[in-house]
Amino acid sequence: DVSKLIERLGEKHSLSVSEYETLVENFNEENAEILRKYADKERRAHYGNKIFIRGLIEVSNICKNDCYYCGIRRSNREVDRYRLTADEILECVDTGYGLGFRTIVMQGGEDSAFTDEFLVEVITEVKRRYPEVALTLSLGERSRESYMKLKAAGADRYLLRHETADSLHYSKLHPPELTLSHRMDCIKSLREAGFYVGCGFMVGSPYQTAKTIAKDLKFIEELRPEMCGIGPFISQKDTPFKDMQNGSADFTCYLLSIIRLIHPPVLLPSTTALGTIDSYGREKGILAGANVIMPNLSPLEVRGKYALYDKKLCTGSEAAEGLRELKKRMSAIGFEIVNERGDISTSKRED
Ligand code: 5AD
Repeated sequence: DVSKLIERLGEKHSLSVSEYETLVENFNEENAEILRKYADKERRAHYGNKIFIRGLIEVSNICKNDCYYCGIRRSNREVDRYRLTADEILECVDTGYGLGFRTIVMQGGEDSAFTDEFLVEVITEVKRRYPEVALTLSLGERSRESYMKLKAAGADRYLLRHETADSLHYSKLHPPELTLSHRMDCIKSLREAGFYVGCGFMVGSPYQTAKTIAKDLKFIEELRPEMCGIGPFISQKDTPFKDMQNGSADFTCYLLSIIRLIHPPVLLPSTTALGTIDSYGREKGILAGANVIMPNLSPLEVRGKYALYDKKLCTGSEAAEGLRELKKRMSAIGFEIVNERGDISTSKRED
């Protein structure tokens, strides 16, 4: 039965695809509670009660892709497009450093103005100013050569969600020019370039099934990514998926616990999307096994424009007051936000 599966997952960190499917199909509050307990124990073994923060800079909302779910897709004429200059990005980094962030994430659409030359210049300057800061990029699919140049310039980590590990499902979420096999090639290239890699997917995306999620979990088990980002799908009113149902916060938390057990040291964010659909989403994600939060450091003028989905949290847990509020909320549930790079754990703690 299911509690046996959970027990085995906790011990072996591995199940078959059909066992993952059974686990996913048996989502209920009772199993969620069991998983949460195991996941909490594993997270504590690696990270204690520490929560790592990442300063997220949304560098551009210009994108050449047309993903059916995404608010900043190319075809969306309602978006007020922007692109930060190198100086604006560096100003955000300075602010973030001053607030205590020791990981900075540069995230953006696939904007062709972000050439290797431009990015290398920005990465080099960030690392010159703050050698101890970890720099994460989340700029989509690029060539292998490009990834190698960005790594050589000093970037440390790269987030590229795989979106779904099922190729038919992938083709229902993306136009034909985007393929799962190319996405997988990119993830492989990132690894080979020496990046710490993050994959991930949306929970409750249109056409997702227990089977496709089981494949996502098997993929995570095999890849053993340093980071894994999952959050609920949230419809955006100007996309082809505008009338599709949103994912659920509780089911997202259930999967967070499972992912913690599949790969115990993984850096697992309690995402903005989770905080958006549930006012306690971020806390629930942490309690389910997440150990990372990514507050927004983008300039105030552009915050509202990076609208991947409707009602995206863009005030609150950001900047100085926001960070204080976030620290309070985390300490209220027994966790402490720390000013560290927050690299992946390589050993369990003694205590
Ligand atoms: N709802 C939730 N997440 C979304 N993303 C894009 N659009 C949405 C949406 N409507 C996620 C994708 C992407 C990441 C940057 O944001 O998984 O990889």
